[in-house]
Amino acid sequence: MLLRALTALVLAAATAPALPDETDYTPIVVPLAVRSPYLGAYLTGRQDKNLATMDPHFWTTMPLSWKGLLRVDGETWNWMGNLTDWPAAINASVRHTAAETAFTLTNDPPTVALHASFLSPVTPADIFRQFVPFSYLHLTVESLDGQPHEVEAYSEINGLWLADEEDEQIEWEAVERTQEGWTGLRSRLRNQRVFTEAYKKDPFPGEMVSTDRILQGDVWYAAKTPAPSTVRTTFSAGGDAMETRRAFAQTGGLLSIGNSTLPRPIRTRSSSNSSQILDEPVFAFSHSFGRVSPLTPLSHRSALLAIGHVRDPLVRYMAGSAESPRLLHLRPLWASTFHTAEHLLSWFLDDYPTAKEMSDAYNSKLYADARTVEDQEYGHVVAVSTRQVFMALEPVWDESGSTEAGLVAWSPITREPIPAMVMLKEISSNGNVQTVDVITPFLPFLLYSSPTLLPLLLEPIYRYMSTGLYMPTPPAHDLGDHYPNATGHNDFLYPGLPIEEAGNMLALALAGMRVSRPSTAPLAVHQRLLHWWDSVGSDARPQAGWEAEVGVGRDHRREGARMAWAQAREYYPLLKRWAQYLEENSLFPGNQLFGAAPNQTSLVIKGIVGLRSMSEIAHDLGEYADRDYFRGVSERFREQFLQLAVSTDKSHLLGQYNNQSSWVMHYNLYFDRLLFTNDYIFPESIYEMQDRFYPTVAEPFGPPLDSRFKTRTKTDWLAWTASLFPRSSQSRSILHSALARYFRQSKNAVFGDSITPQEGWSVGFLSRPVAGGHYAALGREVMERAWEQRQREQRESESRGAFWATVLGAGGAGTGFVVWRWLKRRNARSGYVGLAGRGEPGGRRGSEGIWLAESPRSVFELDSVDGDDDDRSDEAERRRTGGFNEDDDGKGLDLR
Ligand SMILES: *[C@@H]1O[C@H](CO)[C@@H](O)[C@H](O)[C@H]1NC(C)=O
Ligand SMILES: *[C@@H]1O[C@H](CO)[C@@H](O)[C@H](O)[C@H]1NC(C)=O
Ligand SMILES: *[C@@H]1O[C@H](CO)[C@@H](O)[C@H](O)[C@H]1NC(C)=O
Ligand SMILES: *[C@@H]1O[C@H](CO)[C@@H](O)[C@H](O)[C@H]1NC(C)=O
Ligand SMILES: *[C@@H]1O[C@H](CO)[C@@H](O)[C@H](O)[C@H]1NC(C)=O
Ligand SMILES: *[C@@H]1O[C@H](CO)[C@@H](O)[C@H](O)[C@H]1NC(C)=O
Ligand SMILES: *[C@@H]1O[C@H](CO)[C@@H](O)[C@H](O)[C@H]1NC(C)=O
Repeated sequence: MLLRALTALVLAAATAPALPDETDYTPIVVPLAVRSPYLGAYLTGRQDKNLATMDPHFWTTMPLSWKGLLRVDGETWNWMGNLTDWPAAINASVRHTAAETAFTLTNDPPTVALHASFLSPVTPADIFRQFVPFSYLHLTVESLDGQPHEVEAYSEINGLWLADEEDEQIEWEAVERTQEGWTGLRSRLRNQRVFTEAYKKDPFPGEMVSTDRILQGDVWYAAKTPAPSTVRTTFSAGGDAMETRRAFAQTGGLLSIGNSTLPRPIRTRSSSNSSQILDEPVFAFSHSFGRVSPLTPLSHRSALLAIGHVRDPLVRYMAGSAESPRLLHLRPLWASTFHTAEHLLSWFLDDYPTAKEMSDAYNSKLYADARTVEDQEYGHVVAVSTRQVFMALEPVWDESGSTEAGLVAWSPITREPIPAMVMLKEISSNGNVQTVDVITPFLPFLLYSSPTLLPLLLEPIYRYMSTGLYMPTPPAHDLGDHYPNATGHNDFLYPGLPIEEAGNMLALALAGMRVSRPSTAPLAVHQRLLHWWDSVGSDARPQAGWEAEVGVGRDHRREGARMAWAQAREYYPLLKRWAQYLEENSLFPGNQLFGAAPNQTSLVIKGIVGLRSMSEIAHDLGEYADRDYFRGVSERFREQFLQLAVSTDKSHLLGQYNNQSSWVMHYNLYFDRLLFTNDYIFPESIYEMQDRFYPTVAEPFGPPLDSRFKTRTKTDWLAWTASLFPRSSQSRSILHSALARYFRQSKNAVFGDSITPQEGWSVGFLSRPVAGGHYAALGREVMERAWEQRQREQRESESRGAFWATVLGAGGAGTGFVVWRWLKRRNARSGYVGLAGRGEPGGRRGSEGIWLAESPRSVFELDSVDGDDDDRSDEAERRRTGGFNEDDDGKGLDLR
């Protein structure tokens, strides 16, 4: 007992003083490695989140196996994954940030601590870095009692990271990069099925449903011990789990060999006793730290691991035209820069200090901003929500796109633009691609964290809508029934949720344009100089950290606005068509798919918001006739709405016209607050009325979403609705504390956004990106600041115009001055700190890993795709899609 208390003291002293952001907070769900739809590992379960006695699960709650053992002076403890053959290590503490979950575990009695920190980097201004499909596990050991101890740490994954089905055959290889100081264990399903998820029969609907596991791609588990380190890393690839663990427990090391009996099933169970596992290939590392004393330098007692799920190609996408549709195979963004996943992994392992620093900077800013708009606990809510937004997204390299004025992500390596789009999988509720009403809820997150991501997410929708392959007038609900097949809904006649999606698309388009004053594009040399000057001149811009410039001379907020403007300009006819649809249909909406009922006021608000958005888009693009026209329509609709939608006792807005007992959570009003700063559509009296109303229908976990369905509410809409009201208001605090209460309690096994308002149970809808909607208060703040900044910059740029005429007139001298200012500023940038220290981007250019000239391809992976199987599936695809060919032009599969 005494020793424990002592250890607690030692630990407290040994770790840095706790920042307010890092208070002990055990959230509803603990993310470990969360990076893509196929890499999402969490601690889930009602027990409190003890890494030693719990085993990480995939986001669907199916098991993954990630195990760890710690050996201290020859005695073995289990630090991760509930290996009950060894005593469980003590879970001394858990820290949690937006990007990282860090555990400290010790032996018992505690003499040595293991700090295990799981970092899924959050660098939302840097799309390229954000979407590298790997996650870090950083291990550090520490002597707690002042004595030297012999310490080894072991960790292991298995084939369940590739598929749920234990009888799938897997194969593997060990890739040793001695010179670069890392080893990678690569595993994959023997039978690769491109773009295919596994399906199983669901007992309830009795239908085949996806397991959400993809039968394509590689899982990598890799370890790096950088140069001056004395840590000895050994591995085992494909050995049986029990034997591998025992070897470690006995000797403190592994033999560094790959077992060549392959392929083998993920698990083989005894036929007479199904709980007995006879064979299970695992991929394991052991780190021998030698004798660890308080004097041992950090580099000699740490090791870095990475885990990833890698596919190439990523998504099948419908393009072309009504006459000649074409299916493209879209490749991952990283493929624009790295030849192979190995090269990418090598860079990723090098990038750890930068990724960590950027993630920490994001986290600090997030908590500081959360405290400004709300409180510390709101900080926890948005932090816990962050990683899973990115889990739903995958960026693709838009090889046919151009960088001229186009939609791009910026390479942190070359600092050059890469044409890109970002794809979304509708996690959990179903596997639809690019669902408009799933992107919409996390708009606040996009505005706050990642404005360039918004146009990149909308682009695949606009493009498909422009092909003419989709028949209905309003936008499609999604781009395909199941990710990663964005094959569209060609020849489809009746849209689902037409008013919803038309209103959403218009509001999303305007939000992107108004997030900042757009940067100028395309950049000719003299424009670049002007732009640099612009960024040097303005003191209001953030100067450092996660929001530092992307690319050369660019601020990611202004870049986001630039792309959104270019996009709205290009697809203006579509936007106008959708606005016309709203004009014809949204004042008296008919039955809609969701919550079938006519005259739902929530949809009317969406329609009015969409029409007013159209007017503002037209204004920004100089289409003044359209501006005036749609402004007129939106005002006319508003007046009628106010006649029809207010209850006769003037206590609240109805849920449906003519039904006095109906009401809903009017989250759609959030658009009004978000987009029309200082010139709201709806009068203050409406907001005041709703502010008085929600407390009268609130339950412990918030008001129900709709008076017709009193047993359901949604966490994203709680946050949206809260943000309609000023900080001190009753409704806002009731709604925000309901959200915080849900996040704080531990009775739910999982985090879901659909909950029971009375009890706070999670009901379906796991791990969805709509959790980004919890950023609503921050999103509103961003848009208010942006509005102020636009006003200010407009004034400034008017007065600077005259000044520039003079400077440019002075020719060389003026230009020299600008370049000097730029160089000065460039040195002050710190967003990519560390990168320069490990070799300037320029210095790496010629090196083998970086692609410069020709289309790279992941040779190994594509060559070993089973040709026969793919011919068959191509044939099936041709039959299904009516005989046209897939575009194979270096973008699709190479079956040689
Ligand atoms: C850990 O394993 C033991 C023994 O197999 C089991 O009883 C217990 O439920 C497991 N714990 C968790 C959290 O799964
Ligand atoms: C560690 O686990 C125990 C047992 O599950 C639990 O009581 C304790 O609160 C946990 N400690 C931390 C810091 O999570
Ligand atoms: C994608 O399409 C292919 C070809 O039609 C099909 O085999 C595969 O099952 C689809 N993937 C999913 C996840 O439905
Ligand atoms: C490889 O694994 C198989 C199955 O577990 C085992 O029978 C065999 O002995 C292993 N080979 C080596 C060299 O360890
Ligand atoms: C089945 O195997 C499990 C795990 O090895 C063991 O604990 C259990 O006793 C076995 N049951 C029987 C009936 O043999
Ligand atoms: C919708 O509301 C309007 C106005 O009250 C009414 O005239 C119309 O009949 C309603 N539509 C339906 C389908 O109930
Ligand atoms: C009116 O609203 C109440 C509460 O939502 C609902 O129970 C009822 O069915 C509605 N009536 C009609 C006619 O739709």
